[in-house]
Amino acid sequence: MAQTLESVPTDAADLAGQAAFDRVIAADSRIEPRDWMPEAYRKTLVRQISQHAHSEIIGMQPEANWISRAPSLKRKAILMAKVQDEAGHGLYLYSAAETLGTPRQKMTEDLIAGKARYSSIFNYPTLSWADVGAIGWLVDGAAICNQVPLCRASYGPYGRAMVRVCKEESFHQRQGFEILLELANGTPAQKQMAQHAVNRWYAPSLMMFGPPDDDSPNSIQSMAWNIKRFSNDELRQRFVGMMVEQVEVLGLTLPDDQIRFNDETNKWEHGPLDWDEFKEVLAGRGPCNSQRLERRREAHEDGAWVREAAAAYAARKHAEQEGVA
Ligand SMILES: [Fe+2]
Ligand SMILES: [Fe+2]
Repeated sequence: MAQTLESVPTDAADLAGQAAFDRVIAADSRIEPRDWMPEAYRKTLVRQISQHAHSEIIGMQPEANWISRAPSLKRKAILMAKVQDEAGHGLYLYSAAETLGTPRQKMTEDLIAGKARYSSIFNYPTLSWADVGAIGWLVDGAAICNQVPLCRASYGPYGRAMVRVCKEESFHQRQGFEILLELANGTPAQKQMAQHAVNRWYAPSLMMFGPPDDDSPNSIQSMAWNIKRFSNDELRQRFVGMMVEQVEVLGLTLPDDQIRFNDETNKWEHGPLDWDEFKEVLAGRGPCNSQRLERRREAHEDGAWVREAAAAYAARKHAEQEGVA
């Protein structure tokens, strides 16, 4: 399938490389950094993995916003650990993307210059403590649904990074669920705060799976390359099914009265999503886009001395080792 969708190479070395690549993909095996790969495969991966890394890093901001206001020391410690995990996810993913030949510095520069994309959901504000619960439950929940199949992605470093990321995402989702559960069983005002947070984060979390299948032109190629395993709509309906069960335990509701299980298709159905809003936010016009990028830019500038010191230390260590050798 891959051969029919990509441009066909003409050079002899590329022909052999393409044939080897096609065999690996057909065997559902793994491509490693030094293997020959089609340029389009490399580009797709750099785009996808760097966008994913940027999302982890930018995604720290809406939640970090609540670290100083967490309702107890225990909640503060848990939230700090969670936000720190997201930084780690960004680092695993930047490292995986670097193995494809794009330096991390270039990816960071593209992000702070506003040239790179990240998940549109992180451009929404966190208005109450319950939002931290809703993010953990819905946003990390959607991330798990999306990312578990990526553990089998054909590009080795990406798949292996995702295995570690997914383990931590399960903890994130549980901490979010537990925050909501406690609020939902609290005072009427706390329960209402939890419901409002779920109401606001529900639709953006469904849109995290990307546009509907008939408006997602790159998905077919990504599936042919075994990067993606399921389509956006397939993953989205699965996620809805999971949330329907869990929201009952919470004693809350999902803000969508059109959710139903279709026995004929064996799939969950949900109400329409506002894709115009999704496109607006993705284009940089969401409620917090400029704030998120500005904060990221400041953090990058503030961290310049750390990078310089680390580089100087590494150079000195290297020189010392050379001297010994
Ligand atoms: Fe993460
Ligand atoms: Fe997470």
